Amino acid sequence: MAQDVIISKDLHAELAAAIEDVRPDRLFVLTDTTTVECCWPVIQHFDCLCEAQMITIGATDEAKTLESLSDVWTALGEGGATRHSLLINLGGGMVTDLGGFAASTFKRGIAFINIPTTLLAMVDASVGGKTGINFRGLKNEIGVFNEARTVILDTEFLRTLDDQNIRSGYAEMVKHGLISSDEELMELLRFDLDHPDLNALSSLVGKSVAIKERIVTEDPYEQGLRKALNLGHTVGHAFESLALANGQPVLHGYAVAWGLICELYLSATRCGFPTERFHQVEYFVRETYGHFQFDCKQYDHLYELMTHDKKNSAGVINFTLLGAVGDVRINQHVTKEDVFEMWDYFREG
Ligand code: GLY
Repeated sequence: MAQDVIISKDLHAELAAAIEDVRPDRLFVLTDTTTVECCWPVIQHFDCLCEAQMITIGATDEAKTLESLSDVWTALGEGGATRHSLLINLGGGMVTDLGGFAASTFKRGIAFINIPTTLLAMVDASVGGKTGINFRGLKNEIGVFNEARTVILDTEFLRTLDDQNIRSGYAEMVKHGLISSDEELMELLRFDLDHPDLNALSSLVGKSVAIKERIVTEDPYEQGLRKALNLGHTVGHAFESLALANGQPVLHGYAVAWGLICELYLSATRCGFPTERFHQVEYFVRETYGHFQFDCKQYDHLYELMTHDKKNSAGVINFTLLGAVGDVRINQHVTKEDVFEMWDYFREG
């Protein structure tokens, strides 16, 4: 069944209609310890939720565990959930990923609705059917592809976010602009992130999600085109892992933004990506996300991290690069020397 993605105008009415569409025998709402405080109060008075049973798990990626998953299954079972019950996931990507997986596996699958509350979850995690948990130290190691019945995007929830989390989600939107069109990219680069206007942001979110939807509809299981969404992530994930290992974790979107500079450098030097566009994006990223510090003694470790990324196999790194904005080249291979040169460029900027 195709996923219904709604850019909200009236959350109460839209949620009521989405629940009515499923006609569940029992209704559950999953939050984490943060969203139960900041986001649940926005919707708890809705008539359509008056019989909802609450399930709350720990917040942050650290709670994306088998244990939390088991807690959700237990709460569903003890709450009398059947195959005809419905789970509403209210939270960031951790909640929508874990809740989506819990729903997909409970009694072989019950329906779920995602109401993402962070910008990152709105434009990326909650759309496209990737669900799962971390396992044995590996991110999203266990999971399934299964789409939410409905995704409702309401930028009002962004009022609960700090500036850094807005910027983090925005990096994925810039990525969507880059793989789509010059027009969409330039609109994103012009947006005033220092004083974000939520109405204008809502319209940009709608366009951004439409780009992701187009791609996942064509390639839901990441056999080809969906790899376009990995732009910036090959290097970004390595930066994220290095920062975590050094005890100074960075937000996902910041790592992706820095990864975009690196991978656009490769795109410009190896695939003919226009230099002027590259410098425009580079300027935006350096102004918005600052710098990521590392030195050449860490190049081998970073390279190792990239070869172990689950998107790569047999020690070969598959980059997604661009020949131009919207001209995506998947499964690109470059030499180790090219990668080290890319990092020299990034650090000198
Ligand atoms: N986050 C990338 C994807 O959904 O494929």
